[in-house]
Amino acid sequence: MSDEQSIQKDDAVETEQMERHTKLSIFMHWFNAACWLFLLATGIGLIRNADLQPVGGWWTDMMRGIFGGGANLLLVHEIVGVLWAVVFLVYVIAKAKEVVPFLKEIFTIDPKRDVLWLVNKGIQMTLGYKALYKLDGILKGRFGYKPEIPDQGFYNVGQKMFAIPSILGGVVIVVTGVIMTASNVMLENTAPVQWAILIHFLTVGFVFAGLLIHVYMASIAAGERPAFISMFTGKVPEDYAMHHHKLWYDEVREGR
Ligand code: HEM
Repeated sequence: MSDEQSIQKDDAVETEQMERHTKLSIFMHWFNAACWLFLLATGIGLIRNADLQPVGGWWTDMMRGIFGGGANLLLVHEIVGVLWAVVFLVYVIAKAKEVVPFLKEIFTIDPKRDVLWLVNKGIQMTLGYKALYKLDGILKGRFGYKPEIPDQGFYNVGQKMFAIPSILGGVVIVVTGVIMTASNVMLENTAPVQWAILIHFLTVGFVFAGLLIHVYMASIAAGERPAFISMFTGKVPEDYAMHHHKLWYDEVREGR
């Protein structure tokens, strides 16, 4: 084999890709992200409480300026919130065959394997691989400790720890948002509305905290670049799948 042929063969091996996301699931992810950013920006702009300003009064003034006052700002927030919920509802019903396996994957946890993954991945990312073997030397097999990072499926447990609250939190945000919107025409300023405001606000804060880690891990963290690219192309290189999602990789290979 000539050098040129051998380089071409190596390239072909390197670029072999595996299907990871459908075009529709990619669209739904970015639609979700765009709605989240818009609802967050406009939602913070709706807060008119000097003691409760996450980013400061200037943001509230700016948002109200852009949309021509508080009433318009509230209206666009409600319209985009309803659009977000309706599009997702239609997606879940129409594409149950895609959504059900996703939910099954997200909610499947193997406590022994996944806790060890969280501990070891956390140590590896902060202190490096050597620290894992040092810890192994200290624990000497106690608590079932092993220094290897356990294999993971389509999603690793870190991704699941964000996906679960973001999905459940999304449901809570929509339900409380509907109660708050209904207060315009009924319910008014009753206890359920007051509770809905508090729960809506706290849930957004909770999911947003996870979102910061999600965005860091997905778009900035070294080694996760192929997953980020797959959110546009739908594909990941085989070697990435083998190293990061071995159980999924094996499943796909067995099914071939
Ligand atoms: C705006 C910046 C965002 C970026 C750069 C980003 C990036 C990504 C990437 C790269 C994946 C694919 C991971 C993989 O294939 O292994 C993913 C998946 C996912 N994203 Fe995002 N995302 C963003 C916003 C959001 C928002 C706003 C939400 C919801 C609140 C969200 C929820 C999810 C969920 C539930 C998954 C599947 C499970 C997971 O990988 O955590 N993302 N995201």
